[in-house]
Amino acid sequence: MEKEESSSSFSTGKSAQEGALPYVPDCYVIPSSHRPDMAPEAAYVPIIDFGRLNEGREQRSMVIKEIGNACSRLGFFQIVNHGICQSILDGALSTAFDFFKLPSEEKMKFMSGDVHRPVRYSTSLKDGIDEIQFWRVILKHYAHPLDHWIDFWPKNPPNYRENMGKYCTEERKLALELMSAITESLGLGPKYLVNKMDEGMQVMAVNCYPPCPQPDISLGLPPHSDYTCLTIVLQSSPGLEILDTEDGSWKMVPKMQSALQVHVGDHLEVLSNGRYKSVVHRAILNRGSTRISLASLHSLGMDEKMETAKELVDEKNPKGYKESSFRDFLNFLSKNDLAEGKSFIDTLKIKN
Ligand code: OGA
Ligand code: NI
Repeated sequence: MEKEESSSSFSTGKSAQEGALPYVPDCYVIPSSHRPDMAPEAAYVPIIDFGRLNEGREQRSMVIKEIGNACSRLGFFQIVNHGICQSILDGALSTAFDFFKLPSEEKMKFMSGDVHRPVRYSTSLKDGIDEIQFWRVILKHYAHPLDHWIDFWPKNPPNYRENMGKYCTEERKLALELMSAITESLGLGPKYLVNKMDEGMQVMAVNCYPPCPQPDISLGLPPHSDYTCLTIVLQSSPGLEILDTEDGSWKMVPKMQSALQVHVGDHLEVLSNGRYKSVVHRAILNRGSTRISLASLHSLGMDEKMETAKELVDEKNPKGYKESSFRDFLNFLSKNDLAEGKSFIDTLKIKN
């Protein structure tokens, strides 16, 4: 069923999570079979010392192996020693907190239900359109090339552009280095995607999950995988769960000071012909405090099709995915409800 974008009837600043409602309205209630466990098991998440990538050939090849293993086993890892200084991380988180504290008129300037907008403020996923609502608020904006987009970003809080700009620039550098390491780990060499990534997109998703009075019956974000090649996330406190495909259970990503989380996205699964799996994840809530996460989404250009590397296709491993672009994903998102379990990657799979 196609759903209309109805920006005209769309209003924000009035959602339950923004208004700190003391109960969870029915439209936020998750079916009982999908509710979160309030005492989830911790995930075993590989921690990769990124600094070792540039400490000589031997160290580099060990790290590349570790990254490859993490991408194929979980599609997820954390990196430390990533070279982004603490003041940049703290500055980005604190300006994000300040943005969400602004009066709603200020945030409403950016509101839109249109997923194609380069800067948009929204609650849930597609407010008022999706059947189930999620307890989050989000500011999403394009971030590369920075000088092209920064003038469209919020002017308030006054340090938003500077702090978030520095953070986005650092994240992008890191993403390019990571993609080089990842294509190397696939046996494609470090330069395989460099040109296309240089022309690629970066979208910053600034997520805010206000305290929730009933975190056991609602979610901040439903299970999904990201459309990206890679997503790099900085969080203010724990709340991310990943699906352990070995036993089908949800596991909490443990807190690690200064670490960044790396998610394998759908387009990397496509490139790798399924050797690397995009990680299915969701955001859970808590009663006590607001949680912020900064998800930096990295992909090829808007209309650049990601295709499976020919080098990874043979008789034993036939091509498993159709090609697609970021725009294809946006078109999918505008017509489908993630909470109903629709997933972009499923639409790309070729049944062999
Ligand atoms: C996302 C996402 C997770 C989080 O923005 O795609 O998965 O921890 N965020 O907020
Ligand atoms: Ni995600």
